[in-house]
Amino acid sequence: MDYPAIDLADPRALRALCRETKPGLIVNAAAYTAVDKAESEPALALAINGTAPGVLAREARQLGAVLVHYSTDYVFDGSKREPWREDDAPAPLNEYGRTKLEGDLAIARSGCKHLIFRTTWVYGPRGKNFLATMLNLAATRGELRVVADQRGAPTSSLFLAEATVRAIRAIPREGVASGIYNLSAGGETTWASFAEAIFARAAGRPGFRAPRVIRIPSSDYPTPARRPAYSVLDPAKFTAAFGFAPTSWESQLDAVFAALPAG
Ligand SMILES: NC(=O)c1ccc[n+]([C@@H]2O[C@H](COP(=O)([O-])OP(=O)(O)OC[C@H]3O[C@@H](n4cnc5c(N)ncnc54)[C@H](OP(=O)(O)O)[C@@H]3O)[C@@H](O)[C@H]2O)c1
Repeated sequence: MDYPAIDLADPRALRALCRETKPGLIVNAAAYTAVDKAESEPALALAINGTAPGVLAREARQLGAVLVHYSTDYVFDGSKREPWREDDAPAPLNEYGRTKLEGDLAIARSGCKHLIFRTTWVYGPRGKNFLATMLNLAATRGELRVVADQRGAPTSSLFLAEATVRAIRAIPREGVASGIYNLSAGGETTWASFAEAIFARAAGRPGFRAPRVIRIPSSDYPTPARRPAYSVLDPAKFTAAFGFAPTSWESQLDAVFAALPAG
């Protein structure tokens, strides 16, 4: 059964929906994700990313439901040079990261059964994302300036959906405790190298001409929100709990290309 679209910024409506529908499982993939805009709309970002997950978590606790939620590498400041673990100290550089961290903390405080999947650099075959932006720009530009000093793991929405389903199925198993689990693609790269990998795979598409990628430092691409320089997450806790390791970012990109509409 479909339910009406609901505004996460409206806690009363959210509570009412939970009480009416009495879910056994809540999966919250919605968020305020406009990282730069969040700098000028911190209250709305907090309502959606910080307050709403807390409301869902407290309702889940009352219902005995499981809450599955997504968190972000942007809770970290990017100062490490080895993969971030779940228990590393968060220190967000921007409002988006601060508000997402509030959501993580509110869920943990609620005492509900929960899985928080912390992920990175999400893209997929549909919607607005880095891959779509690169392919759109390639249609009109012969060269593109892309940041080459931020490192992370581009993670596909297809992989996240599949891994979430497998993880939910494993919940009844012993050893799956509530908490944060890093869940992002294996390996690491930069935005510039990711762009090149996208263009290499697009090369066979009819009429496609790959632009030249010019690698630039973040300082040459100023944005309202600062971003972490190093975002790679350590998947060891997820792998041990759920019995499978994330696939590489390259193979996830192949799978997304296989799912892209032609043209
Ligand atoms: N994108 C990334 O690189 C990245 C990295 C790390 C973690 N994450 C996390 O992964 C999750 C999914 O991110 P994503 O990139 O897939 O997000 P997305 O494409 O921006 O989608 C966010 C969704 O949230 C919905 N939404 C926003 N405000 C809402 C509101 N007030 N009420 C109800 N729905 C609302 C949007 O609906 P409309 O389309 O109608 O606006 C949209 O469907 C989020 O928790 C995000 O923080 C993302």
